[in-house]
Amino acid sequence: MAFPADRPRRLRATQTMRRLVRQTQVSIDDLMYPLFTCPGTKVKKPIGSMTGCFHFSPDMIVEEAKEVAALGIPAVLLFGIPEKKDSQGSQAYNSDSPVCESIRQIKKVLPDLIVATDVCLCAYTDHGHCGVIKNGKVDNDPTCELLAKMALAHAKAGADIVAPSDMMDGRVAVIRKMLDDNKFADTAIMAYSAKYASAYYGPFRDALCSAPAEGNRKSYQMNPANSDEAMREMQLDVAEGADILMVKPALAYMDIIYRGKQRFDLPMAAYNVSGEYMMLKAAAEAGLIDGPATMMETLTSLKRAGADILITYFAKEAAKLLKK
Ligand code: PBG
Ligand code: ZN
Repeated sequence: MAFPADRPRRLRATQTMRRLVRQTQVSIDDLMYPLFTCPGTKVKKPIGSMTGCFHFSPDMIVEEAKEVAALGIPAVLLFGIPEKKDSQGSQAYNSDSPVCESIRQIKKVLPDLIVATDVCLCAYTDHGHCGVIKNGKVDNDPTCELLAKMALAHAKAGADIVAPSDMMDGRVAVIRKMLDDNKFADTAIMAYSAKYASAYYGPFRDALCSAPAEGNRKSYQMNPANSDEAMREMQLDVAEGADILMVKPALAYMDIIYRGKQRFDLPMAAYNVSGEYMMLKAAAEAGLIDGPATMMETLTSLKRAGADILITYFAKEAAKLLKK
């Protein structure tokens, strides 16, 4: 059949018809909201490079988490900045770190809110790389051991999900073993499986002062030109025991989300990163685009591509819109 019998516009004719045939729905249930915690008390400091985002001390992050939970958002993803940075990133696996303290405080008042934590050394090392350095190179295997210690510290503090974002080889297996050996078999791993060496992380690195002092992350994060390699990374993470896979960034990598979702049977998370968020914010602020409309279009597109979980700085705004 073809035109004139075929007229797809029939199903687009009215609001109700469009509602009936709609394929993809963004739900508040899909959202995970990143939060940044810092040392101190009574701190709620706007992050200059990321509109609407703040650094919270552990006492203050609880208030924010309550607001997030009240909006119906099921999960937060915690990032921390330490009191001091050193070559080994030792504050990353300190049980008194702002992240561990924030987990404990949040879980005390909001036991049902899912608390996920970013597991990586780059915010904790003085050189800003995601692992420890040996002979001028990021040293894979010792880094995995430190990441496992970090994940265990978070699990002990009460994290439901640990999310390694470092892109070391084998880290999911090492973390899984560390958790299991210490009776944290129920702590889930969300692997940043396909994490690309992206320029879209710019605003985030300003927020965490985590840009590498020297060099770049291309020896561990993936080349944006590659797609097959993402499937290999996901395959390995599945084999090593990941519970959730992730693609990051999201928008320039929707083909990776789609391919991964077709191939693997795990929940797929898409990380709509800081640069993607700020592009829309900046354009909306300049009056060039409709902010809420482009936000919902973007989130809907990520779900259409195959994402089950949307990690986004828009989570609160989106939840407010979806609640109406
Ligand atoms: C740490 C980490 C980064 C992001 C999440 N975890 C930065 C990086 O790899 O440089 C980026 C998040 C964002 O841009 O929103 N490894
Ligand atoms: Zn890192």
